Amino acid sequence: MTSFSPSFCRLLEKAKKASLSLAPGCCSAPSNIALIKYWGKESGNHQIPLNSSLSFTLGGFRSHTTVRPEDSSRFFLNGAPAQLPARMQATLDELFRYLGQQTPLRIESVNTFPTACGIASSASGGAALIGALSDALHLSDLFSEGEHTLWLTEGARLLSGSATRSVVSSAFVVWERLPGRQETQTYAIKAHEEFQRLAHGVVMIDPRPKAISSSQGHQGAATSPFFSLRDAAIPFLLENVQKALLGGDWPTLMMCTEHDAFALHAIMQTMQPPVCYLSKMTTIFLAAFITKRHQHRLRALWTIDAGPNIHLLCPQQDVQALKDILQMMACDLRTSITVFFNNASDFIAIGADRVAALPDTPIQHITFTPT
Ligand code: PMV
Repeated sequence: MTSFSPSFCRLLEKAKKASLSLAPGCCSAPSNIALIKYWGKESGNHQIPLNSSLSFTLGGFRSHTTVRPEDSSRFFLNGAPAQLPARMQATLDELFRYLGQQTPLRIESVNTFPTACGIASSASGGAALIGALSDALHLSDLFSEGEHTLWLTEGARLLSGSATRSVVSSAFVVWERLPGRQETQTYAIKAHEEFQRLAHGVVMIDPRPKAISSSQGHQGAATSPFFSLRDAAIPFLLENVQKALLGGDWPTLMMCTEHDAFALHAIMQTMQPPVCYLSKMTTIFLAAFITKRHQHRLRALWTIDAGPNIHLLCPQQDVQALKDILQMMACDLRTSITVFFNNASDFIAIGADRVAALPDTPIQHITFTPT
């Protein structure tokens, strides 16, 4: 039985009838950081999240992916041979079976940031891969705009859940669960002008790939006693974040985002088997940051995905104040703090043309050292 939704199957039927041939293709796609996160999937193979989510698109944190037909299937990640994640491989196999093509593919993907450590490389990777396939099959000539969006949102979701939020060219994106359906909806949402280009940086606690992938982690979500509590609060959180984004209401945005990050990690740590993605330094940094932020009335919020690294967001005009506080924290904690700042917040669109258009340094690394 196919894991594809009826509307995605209709697209594939159209593509199959057109007897498309596969040429080399490429695409660049941004990552995204969820402010209200998805954790847990429905059983079965349809990649349906247990809750809706909302994210901010990270223009400078990108994957650049090329695909081309070759004699045998091979995958290269950041220049080295690697294993394509099982879910992505299974989706590609099913896709090509459906299209009646058995073309082996050489896939090369390069990330502008460290892979698999809580910066959602699977989101940018999945989005860039589905975009590269679209380029290779010239799907934008075949599909209407709506159909092409559906190809990208559904295809990305099947490759890696959160990737569906990376194909919509908007600073803020909602991925909505549609109860009882085998598909979901992904769409842009509006925000106050000041929030359109929030500054973003990742405090790099540990760039190494995490031991437990999010795919493994999702499996235990519903076993946590806190799961149903959070689940009941999600509609309220999503509504409040959307209102806060529209109204430029920083305190509400901060409160809801941080509440959800704590709730997510409480679930991760109390599910079966439990997973702790945080390291000792994550907790030390967070406690110090919350204190300093309060003392200096800084408008900056934090969130953490499935990894030890901490994402910081603040309005553009508060970036210098944030950097001053990071410098003070390096002195107080007597440790260097390295932050990867997003240097290309405007580059939120995906597409083949994006590769050449990007600035040379989409990410700016700054290390604050104790003086
Ligand atoms: O997209 P996945 O299957 O790698 O899962 C991502 C899960 C979180 O990053 C923790 C949350 C989210 O919504 O992005």
